[in-house]
Amino acid sequence: MSSATAPITVAPHCNYPLRSEPPTSNKHILRWVDRIARLVEPDRIHWVDGSAEETDALFDMMVTKGQCLRLNPEKRPNSYLFRSDPRDVARVESRTFICSISKDDAGPTNHWLHPDIMKRRINEAARGCMRGRTLYVIPFSMGPAGSPISRVGIQLTDSPYAVVSMRIMTRVTPTVWEIIGESRDWVRCVHSVLRPILTETDDVPWPCCPEQTCIAHFPEERTILSIGSGYGGNALLGKKCFALRIAGTMGRDEGWLAEHMLILGVTDPSGKKTYITAAFPSACGKTNFAMMVPPASLADKGWKVTCVGDDIAWIKPDPNGRLRAINPEAGFFGVAPGTSKDTNPMAMACCARDTIFTNVALTEDGDVWWEGMTKEPPQRLIDWRGNPWTPGQTGPDGTPVPSSHPNSRFTAPAVNCPTLDPSWEDPAGVEIGAIVFGGRRMSTIPLVFQSFNWQHGVYLGATVASEQTAAAEGKVGELRRDPFAMLPFCGYHMGDYFRHWLKMGKMVTDPPRIFHVNWFRRGEDGSWLWPGFGENMRVLKWIVDRVNGRGQARETQLGWMPRHDDLEWEGLHFPRERWDELMRIDPETLLAQTLGHEELFLKLWDHMPKELLWQRDLLISRY
Ligand code: OXD
Ligand code: MN
Repeated sequence: MSSATAPITVAPHCNYPLRSEPPTSNKHILRWVDRIARLVEPDRIHWVDGSAEETDALFDMMVTKGQCLRLNPEKRPNSYLFRSDPRDVARVESRTFICSISKDDAGPTNHWLHPDIMKRRINEAARGCMRGRTLYVIPFSMGPAGSPISRVGIQLTDSPYAVVSMRIMTRVTPTVWEIIGESRDWVRCVHSVLRPILTETDDVPWPCCPEQTCIAHFPEERTILSIGSGYGGNALLGKKCFALRIAGTMGRDEGWLAEHMLILGVTDPSGKKTYITAAFPSACGKTNFAMMVPPASLADKGWKVTCVGDDIAWIKPDPNGRLRAINPEAGFFGVAPGTSKDTNPMAMACCARDTIFTNVALTEDGDVWWEGMTKEPPQRLIDWRGNPWTPGQTGPDGTPVPSSHPNSRFTAPAVNCPTLDPSWEDPAGVEIGAIVFGGRRMSTIPLVFQSFNWQHGVYLGATVASEQTAAAEGKVGELRRDPFAMLPFCGYHMGDYFRHWLKMGKMVTDPPRIFHVNWFRRGEDGSWLWPGFGENMRVLKWIVDRVNGRGQARETQLGWMPRHDDLEWEGLHFPRERWDELMRIDPETLLAQTLGHEELFLKLWDHMPKELLWQRDLLISRY
């Protein structure tokens, strides 16, 4: 069967009737699904309703086919473990394309191919790719369904893993059909793992086709086509593809921002809440920061942190001249290794149940484990590749072999988070008081400073850099410029994106204050200078004090900086000399680093807003 009008069928190993009766009469949707179905030739089409029964049936089917394991329900209720193909473990930036009509619109930081050429290539690769398989049609809302800030999409996919993951990460609901009505107003997402011509019964555990992986965005058509990969950001198209790359172009056209930012709320002892967004490059501790637990000395005084989101913020001006933000997602797709009761107890609570784990290790009693979860590893595990593992295991070259992949993940519903902010689903969003940028920088960059004004803040965002981590391919440890932590996620020319940010500051009367942080500075002996984690609350408190007009600071070349006396130290012994080392500015080194800014700016030259070039000159003149 290859059309949307096929009769009702039941998939093998699936006791939930896979309906092919479309729940919408929108002719644009029906034609689109029909057109894709004629290309990929699925055996059946299932219109996803997001119900618990449907999800259970999909998991049952995947367990039966050996595509995932049901974890011990006593240890990890309603949770599953997937092991991906070892070649399909991260986002693939080298195969991610922005296919705008004009190459100039994509800019030099994106891969580009003309939309017609890209579509031809993908169509060729995808012809007949769903034979013997089911095409799932997933209606989803990014942001609370019906909020004026939210947007809807429809993902077509042949991956049941993508279906169950999208149900956690987005709002998969039939309400989306009502929101779309008879309009054409939805983001078109098409995904295939590109596993050709197998039947539903002899599918492999993790179907994918890495040689042909390609994630293509068509900003003018609000369309995403992704083939070959079943992994996270390549396959859950609501996340990076829609909520950042496509939404970014919507924001540029409509006057709002789609950002790679967490959102958290800080309640001070008077009960006033200040919301903060923060952009750190991938795997720099965004999830930890979003779920921070203040140290007892501050918590006892009434300081509290609540989480709105850990990865993406959509930010819009409100009629009162403020910026308001929503988290368009509904779950957390967190990096597992390093997450523990000590480093992030809230994340551990999030994934205590109802969670999909990918590429972590399996314990003997049917639970999960990863490097850093406990001080001592269990004596025996099954590693992320499905092989027996014991502590201290080394590979053929003598290097230690981790039990979990460094980019292994938990996919957990936001509602599991004990510190979830009560306004996290407020359709109007939360009012933003401060924006924080940061990166993983071993040297040079002090713990925290505040920009002089919005334009200087945009300069700080534009010059974010970080040492490379495992969330994407690339050499771990290398310093990479990552403006606004958006380098892999900006759906249009980065110079135009900077200009859009400058414009946003003018669209509001009371813009958020902008800060820069670096938790990762090391001393001469190589050890971390700052304890991080919950102690970051001391920095947050200073930020909130500044926003509310009560924090003290001194002016430096970089911006406004706290003195030792300006931070709250109760409960932490942090000597003045250590503070001085942590906050030290070395004009020579910073001047040399400014050349790195130049390198990026030159690349973007013909679209660079002059304001940022002037900011760079002002910075140099202050050294
Ligand atoms: C992520 C990333 O997975 O930024 O959130 O890579
Ligand atoms: Mn991210």
